[in-house]
Amino acid sequence: MSDVTEAKSINFLRGVPSDEVLERLIPIASEGYEKAIKKYGTGVLQYGHFNGFEPLRNIIGEIHHTDPGRVVVGNGGMEVISLFLKSLPRNSTIIIEEATYDRVVLDAEIYGHNLIGVELTPVGVNLDQLREMVNKYSVAAFYGIPFHQNPTGINYSEENLKSVEQICKDKGIICAWDICYESLRYDGKKNIPIRVSDWGPVLINSFTKTISPGTKCGYIVLPMNFVDQMMRVVANTRINPNLPTQAFISDFIESGEYEKFLDYICRLYKPRMDALNEALNTHFPGAFATDMSGGFFTCLTLMKITPEQEQSFVNASKEAGIGIAAAWDAVAPNCRDSKRQKGLFMRLTFPAFKPDQITWGISTLKKVEVAFQ
Ligand SMILES: Cc1ncc(COP(=O)(O)O)c(C=O)c1O
Repeated sequence: MSDVTEAKSINFLRGVPSDEVLERLIPIASEGYEKAIKKYGTGVLQYGHFNGFEPLRNIIGEIHHTDPGRVVVGNGGMEVISLFLKSLPRNSTIIIEEATYDRVVLDAEIYGHNLIGVELTPVGVNLDQLREMVNKYSVAAFYGIPFHQNPTGINYSEENLKSVEQICKDKGIICAWDICYESLRYDGKKNIPIRVSDWGPVLINSFTKTISPGTKCGYIVLPMNFVDQMMRVVANTRINPNLPTQAFISDFIESGEYEKFLDYICRLYKPRMDALNEALNTHFPGAFATDMSGGFFTCLTLMKITPEQEQSFVNASKEAGIGIAAAWDAVAPNCRDSKRQKGLFMRLTFPAFKPDQITWGISTLKKVEVAFQ
């Protein structure tokens, strides 16, 4: 397909790594898996390691300066989130951001949990509102995405992050940070890693976007007193995770090649992110949370599109070659009605697309919006 044809359509819903990244991984993964199976032999082919491959848990323990006994490695970030949600008593109250990772909302509801959304600001959550909520309800956990938040693209300030932790700690609420976009920062700066202490916070991470979705692997760091509770659920739900993958990843990290791969990804995605920031600032100033500095997502609210017009607007965009959809699944149930009154809320992604495609996509979306009035 030529670039010209490609530029005629873009699917902003496709939050996947770019093909170039996966192509580059082919020799690394082929050699890495072979090496890992030869090196660890039946140790990675047999049952065992309920909480994950021990050498990888040791590396993760070192990265987070904590006891590897607190680490559970799984088949992706969502798997460990789901196991964590399943480990909480049914019908627990969980505070989430007003817009968050949609699958967490869906999965938590399957376990009967009651979700309450707290307002997001460009630097984290609305702390006054959070304080009010923890005083009013008996809250079991808070779940937040502090780096390059999905779907808003915001970054928590250190001050906001620390305040959230303190509020949770004071009330005996589990504070769970999903840090899966921490290392995906493209503006040349580094995010400040979150420190764990005995009480927490819980950290959740994923290698899906930093290595590949096919080699699915993620982990959770828990307070020691939660490990047994989760361990029972782990043993009954998935027994052992995919061990050859974890062996490959532990060698990949230890060799130093993973860091280089991350550098490559960040350099590749930077012009794509810049193109989206620039196009949004040009065509939709004020309609999105903040300029992105990394991650995979940002979101856009089209204030002129009423709930009744949503579907026809999505259809008109599709006809113009733009794949978009309302992102109501990502919104906390208690925030949906009020957010809906503010306009069409949607999530946009960029890493899989070339800058010119992104620029074309956003300017075309603007034309569709203008023509729709
Ligand atoms: C915030 C967040 N957490 C977790 C995940 C899922 O990770 P995995 O693909 O490793 O299950 C995603 C994927 O998009 C995500 O955005």
